[in-house]
Amino acid sequence: MCGIVGAVAQRNIVPLLIEGLRRLEYRGYDSCGVAIHADGEVVRARSVARVAELQEQAATLAGFTGIAHTRWATHGAPSTANAHPHVSGGPVKVARGARIALVHNGIIENHEALRARLQAAGYAFESQTDTEVLPHLIDSHYNGDLFEAVQAAVRELQGAYAIAVFARDEPHRVVGARAGSPLVVGLGTNENFLASDAMALVGATDRIVYLEEGDVADVQLGRVWIVDRAGRRVERPARTVAAHAQAVDLGPYRHFMQKEIFEQPRAIADTLESVGTIDPWLFGDAAAQWLPQIDRVLILACGTSYYASLVARYWIESIAQVPTAVEIASEYRYRRSVADANTLVVVVSQSGETADTLAALKHAQSLGMQRTLAVCNVATSAMVRETAAQFITHAGPEIGVASTKAFTTQLVALYLLANTLALARGQIGDSQAATALTALRHLPAAVQKVLALEPQIIALAEQFVDKEHALFLGRGLHYPIALEGALKLKEISYIHAEAYPAGELKHGPLALVTAAMPVVTVAPNDALLEKLKSNMQEVRARGGEIFVFADADTRIASGEGVQVVRLPEHYGDLSPILHVVPLQLLAYHTAVARGTDVDKPRNLAKSVTVE
Ligand code: M6R
Repeated sequence: MCGIVGAVAQRNIVPLLIEGLRRLEYRGYDSCGVAIHADGEVVRARSVARVAELQEQAATLAGFTGIAHTRWATHGAPSTANAHPHVSGGPVKVARGARIALVHNGIIENHEALRARLQAAGYAFESQTDTEVLPHLIDSHYNGDLFEAVQAAVRELQGAYAIAVFARDEPHRVVGARAGSPLVVGLGTNENFLASDAMALVGATDRIVYLEEGDVADVQLGRVWIVDRAGRRVERPARTVAAHAQAVDLGPYRHFMQKEIFEQPRAIADTLESVGTIDPWLFGDAAAQWLPQIDRVLILACGTSYYASLVARYWIESIAQVPTAVEIASEYRYRRSVADANTLVVVVSQSGETADTLAALKHAQSLGMQRTLAVCNVATSAMVRETAAQFITHAGPEIGVASTKAFTTQLVALYLLANTLALARGQIGDSQAATALTALRHLPAAVQKVLALEPQIIALAEQFVDKEHALFLGRGLHYPIALEGALKLKEISYIHAEAYPAGELKHGPLALVTAAMPVVTVAPNDALLEKLKSNMQEVRARGGEIFVFADADTRIASGEGVQVVRLPEHYGDLSPILHVVPLQLLAYHTAVARGTDVDKPRNLAKSVTVE
């Protein structure tokens, strides 16, 4: 999704801004741009191509102060006119070149009313974006002090924003503000920075200040001042963040998605590293108090994180015997539901910044549910800051838009939660908890063995290249794995894929089955295997071709119309964590064979920070 970088320095900051955008590319974008304060003027370059193209365009630019942006279109098509930075030169009759330049993440909900007012005041608009109201609005408040003008302007905004802005007449100052979208300040030596994600500043600084909701930051060469929503001067702590430079290097892999699939054994091991035993303190002091007493669990998430949550429901209900509901965050936030203060509300998110999940969390809190837990991969994210308890997964930065290692580490965290709840409520004893932990610790080696199936899956993927549709089937714990496999295939290969619980087959989707529709079945040797075999017979009887992801104990053999990929061992309750891996590889190699942009699939963003 959109990315922001800004800098004030005593050196040419164009290479730093471009490098920052390059580091943000993984979030997904469809246009990009940069604006520099150069020789008393605002100079801009914008592109609907990649950052590499912008870099060529900007090769002749140089300046000490500037802002840059990657845009993921919401209001107005991806075009040069709609790309950020947007500028204001004041009302048309007094305009003499751009004097305010601004970049923005988020959505301004009252942009139409503001636009009408500003047009009536003589401001001319060049784009279809909601963003363009912002430089004009700031200009309308500008009396020589940009910090004051931004504070006045943001008081008029409804919606979500993170902005970075500079003024032609104040060459050594960039002002940032945030509400609903993340923004950080990077602290250097006699130079300071703004960015939507600390990752953009790797190489520039590792000292990061996380702005809070409503903050406005005045970023100058030797000082940073921050005021809160009420205009009071505030100190926000600076943290030293680990440099994740290696995360943006591919190493021997062709794509980040492939690298991240193969990192899963390490990511799972890292997530388990600090887990000595299963006990309620794993989820923090607050959670240790609540877990024995809660009446139910409500899990809120989107996309892949939602599918991890669906697996968790099976685990929590079967192991801990606690009633569990899982809701798509974008639905929950808008529906009238029945709140129960004694519910554990769990938000599951890789980024911790997904707008719908954050809003769903706030909605649950507003209904009086304060027992909130984040399962999240980013320790500094908004979701971690806004929940009472947290479990941080240690997948490391995930660059590929298609989530892989974040999913398997979320499952590890959620299995720990199920067992912790069970132990806290007396559903299992210490020895069963220890057995569960031992099984988790064996996972990195087990996933490694599954990864060794890659050559077999490459051959399978070749059979999907010319397909336009695919059906995924699973049952029980593995139905969410079928959903996740279908999501992976559709988002990166653009093959239409749907997943069904196999028992639903004859209630509708069986009508779709022909020889042209590959049917992928997730078939571990669990209690539902015989049922699943009957469902497979139904497919075969209609000429459907079946691709079975079985395990060592599943008695299904390859034959006419049936191809079996056999995972090394059956892994009981943890089997979903193994079975998702070949489906990730299938999607990956199908996409590679179809020549799509695997890490940056069309229309998608890594972190969905707008509604
Ligand atoms: O950062 P989050 O886990 O909250 O993101 C949720 C979804 O946007 C994300 O899982 C999305 O579905 C992935 N692209 C799927 O691969």
